[in-house]
Amino acid sequence: MSRIKIFDTTLRDGEQSPGVNLNALEKLEIAKQLERFGVDRMEAGFPASSKGDFQAVKQIADTIHATSVTGLARAVKSDIDTAWDALRGAEEPCLHIFLATSPIHMTYKLKKTPEQVMETAVDMVTYARQRFPKVEWSAEDASRSDWDFLAQLIEKVIAAGASVINLPDTVGYATPATYGEMFRYMKENVPSIDKVDLSCHCHNDLGLAVANSLAAVENGATQVEGTINGIGERAGNVALEEVAVALKIRSDFYPHTTSLNLSETKRTSDLVAKLTGMHIPRNKAVVGRNAFAHESGIHQDGVLKNKETYEIITPEMVGAKSDTLFMGKHSGRHAFKEKIKDMGYELAEEKVGEAFEAFKSLTDRKKEVTDDDLFTILMNIQTEN
Ligand code: KIV
Ligand code: ZN
Repeated sequence: MSRIKIFDTTLRDGEQSPGVNLNALEKLEIAKQLERFGVDRMEAGFPASSKGDFQAVKQIADTIHATSVTGLARAVKSDIDTAWDALRGAEEPCLHIFLATSPIHMTYKLKKTPEQVMETAVDMVTYARQRFPKVEWSAEDASRSDWDFLAQLIEKVIAAGASVINLPDTVGYATPATYGEMFRYMKENVPSIDKVDLSCHCHNDLGLAVANSLAAVENGATQVEGTINGIGERAGNVALEEVAVALKIRSDFYPHTTSLNLSETKRTSDLVAKLTGMHIPRNKAVVGRNAFAHESGIHQDGVLKNKETYEIITPEMVGAKSDTLFMGKHSGRHAFKEKIKDMGYELAEEKVGEAFEAFKSLTDRKKEVTDDDLFTILMNIQTEN
């Protein structure tokens, strides 16, 4: 079993979600929870982007000790200098430099030739290594770049001192087959690739971020980057909790471990949702309210007999509460009986029938029957006698 490193960018790429703006205290609170969650690396922000972000990154770098803290910089000296001022107090100061490598970005955004991009990348990694012991280099828009050009560039950037190479699917364009193939190509065509961590970073524009990250892992990625709850630019980044749980549940297929303390998953997710205001959809995998709820009578009957009939993840594994018996119009008598028993009621069989009828007629008017509703039904049945 080899270990996959988890790089969390909730506080940088995640904060780039439109409408999200965290202050320094909120960022620090999330950073402390990420440390408890056990991520290997956290990207605290982009120090050159604003004075506030500089302060937030500095405070996190000075406070967090068990997790390596990194900051983002464009491939320009002033960004690197600013990042150094913010990160120099960290246990192991790390820098994350990015530069686009796709034809569309080089031509229209950077207005540089591929040769100029190659030279800038090497110069800026060399410059950063004069201060930072650890430098990650990202080929922005890697998934739309020329693989041969990318392979040559990566070899040079490693020689200049980068110890992590990240190949982002910046616009969420890749598919599992093409993204996985790109990782395999780099493994086979960059002579020094085994000396560094090879990282994936997926966006979710086509809803493929988890599948793409897993494809990268299958093809040699040793680090997965993403955010809690999948927040981030446009449709977001890959949801780290989904990747981590997929690796755990399907360890028969993925022979990898992570450093995450999975029982902190729900707490981490709730904190990020609360402080960012990005609410978690009910049906969101792993952390959504419905992830462990069963409504239909057939499913409820199944899980009451053996949870594994319809549950592949236990709520305990991710620190969530079990909500097995969701009381709605599809619920059956078996679940109803268990539910009222859980609430402390033992009724004679014909009374259970009466209460069940009353519950069913209420479900025609209400989508969810709460414990309070059931309590009222049960009180009515009892006072009728
Ligand atoms: O998606 C991306 O390309 C990024 C880079 C800055 C790494 O977030
Ligand atoms: Zn990104």
